[in-house]
Amino acid sequence: MKGIILAGGSGTRLRPVTIAVSKQLLPVGDKPMIYYPLSILMLAGIREILVISTPDDLPQFRRLLGDGSHLGLQIEYAEQIEANGLAEAFVIGADHIGDSSVALILGDNIFHGHSFYSVLTENSRDVSGCVLFGYPVNDPERYGVGEVDADGRLVSIEEKPTHPRSNRAITGLYFYDNSVVDVAKNVRPSARGELEITDVNRWYLERGRARLVDLGRGFAWLDTGTPESLLMAGQYVGTLEERQGVRIACVEEVALRMGYITSDECHSLGVRLAPSRYGQYVMAIAKELADL
Ligand code: G1P
Repeated sequence: MKGIILAGGSGTRLRPVTIAVSKQLLPVGDKPMIYYPLSILMLAGIREILVISTPDDLPQFRRLLGDGSHLGLQIEYAEQIEANGLAEAFVIGADHIGDSSVALILGDNIFHGHSFYSVLTENSRDVSGCVLFGYPVNDPERYGVGEVDADGRLVSIEEKPTHPRSNRAITGLYFYDNSVVDVAKNVRPSARGELEITDVNRWYLERGRARLVDLGRGFAWLDTGTPESLLMAGQYVGTLEERQGVRIACVEEVALRMGYITSDECHSLGVRLAPSRYGQYVMAIAKELADL
């Protein structure tokens, strides 16, 4: 399976912070926002990843992540020149996807929960159709919303409905089989002129090929779109990290635990970051796992 991180958009609700810096590079806790979706793809076993962003912001992502080889990954980059919608990622990424299945994750989506590794690996294997992840929220009208029947089967999906049929938001993590490239190429722009991911998902739903995985209440799916929610996301991460002495979305640690890099390589990455507590954590984890 290939991966795409879509990190475009102009972050208007965060201005003036996002005038000079991409939203997905802002700090959440002690690391850039994009580390969170990147670590999710890595945990799903995905190592070939395309980062899509605006022509202005792409050089900064490249500076941060390089070609990904230090993490045992292959990271490539592509421009989304205008805000033509999330589904355009599959058109821009068609060559990268080739004949594989693909996971799309939005660069501002933060997921955290126990056993998420198992949820990801179970659902990314042999994808036929599409797999969506639902999460209960207070304000479903801000998201894609899924409605399920008594048997838990997905029956409708609507994009930002005025009167949501459920409180189940469709999160920004999606797994598709290879037909998504053609589906996205044939989606017509919505009233706001965008290729909507919800229209792609509805194409699968209408053919009985969309599956919804519910992320329950013991799970965190955090928003980062406004100054308040960004601060709350940072506090959530900081609280858990401080209490447990672990780090969420430490990409060096994920690379080591997934066997993408050795503990020596992980330690050298930590040395480069060493003056920070983050860097010290990376070194400590490398030592701890080397001693096992
Ligand atoms: C997008 C999708 C929406 C989804 C959301 C998840 O909305 O269109 O269906 O629920 O991401 O973050 P946006 O954040 O672009 O408004």
